[in-house]
Amino acid sequence: MENRDMGGIGFTSGHWPLDPQKPTLIFIHGAASNHAFWNPQVNYFAEIVNTVAMDLPGHGASRSPGKEKVSDYAAAVLDFIDMIQAPSPIPCGLSMGGAITQQLLVSHKGRFPAGILINTGARLKVLPSIFETIDKNYNDFVKSLFTFAISGKSNAEKLRPEIEASTICQPSVASGDFRACDGFNVTDALGLIEVPVLVLTATDDKLTPVKYGTFLADSIKNAELVTIEDAGHFSPIEKPLEVNLAIHDFLTRVIPVKGS
Ligand code: COA
Repeated sequence: MENRDMGGIGFTSGHWPLDPQKPTLIFIHGAASNHAFWNPQVNYFAEIVNTVAMDLPGHGASRSPGKEKVSDYAAAVLDFIDMIQAPSPIPCGLSMGGAITQQLLVSHKGRFPAGILINTGARLKVLPSIFETIDKNYNDFVKSLFTFAISGKSNAEKLRPEIEASTICQPSVASGDFRACDGFNVTDALGLIEVPVLVLTATDDKLTPVKYGTFLADSIKNAELVTIEDAGHFSPIEKPLEVNLAIHDFLTRVIPVKGS
């Protein structure tokens, strides 16, 4: 994996330069997170497709300010995709990243051959206690993730380094992210999405419950739903193999990829 910076956006990629013959998985992290969240996926898919995990504006190594609207983040992701000239970009987002992915698929039809929505929803109203905790003490918010964002069956201590590395974020940026989630609603626009979409949910997800994913899969014409057992909101780091196999299986059916 290589960490890079272009136009003020930090990102990591499986290989660089990108292979023009291969599609590109664009991994988009959730609220208060950064590209490191996707290390298990960037590595796993590096020999199969192009893999790029970006830091959204205000996060990780990206320098421009954070945003407070999902549509503004979506515009920044589209600019980034254009800047790196990603061949056949397939956005893959978790939670707020999944909201950004939905926004891209709804507003830029024809730009993306497929999309992957992980632990997200067409609306993402946020518990007031999340804002209060971030405002009071950001470390308490990070601590709360070990209860709320992973399954009780996951090994919290083993995941500690990954969770701590991928939640380094300015509290003001984190608040802006959750405001963006709170104001997000594409319920009435999901019918516009025509490309194949993989919807991943996780049985023990408390932040975006399975029913949010079921709603997405029922509302998007060409969607398929896979539920990861015994995982929470952070299923890509809790159950990387299961998540990767589900994505791999989807990719082999919807786009030509090697290694299938
Ligand atoms: N897809 C499908 N159903 C949804 C949905 C979605 N994206 N968003 C909300 N709903 C459902 C709710 O489950 C609820 O169903 P119910 O009446 O059967 O219980 C109903 O629509 C109304 O929900 P909502 O508009 O969110 O209002 P609320 O006042 O009932 O709840 C919260 C507000 C914050 C308590 C609630 O949204 C919640 O628990 N959210 C998850 C926790 C969180 O903060 N997640 C962070 C996401 S980034």
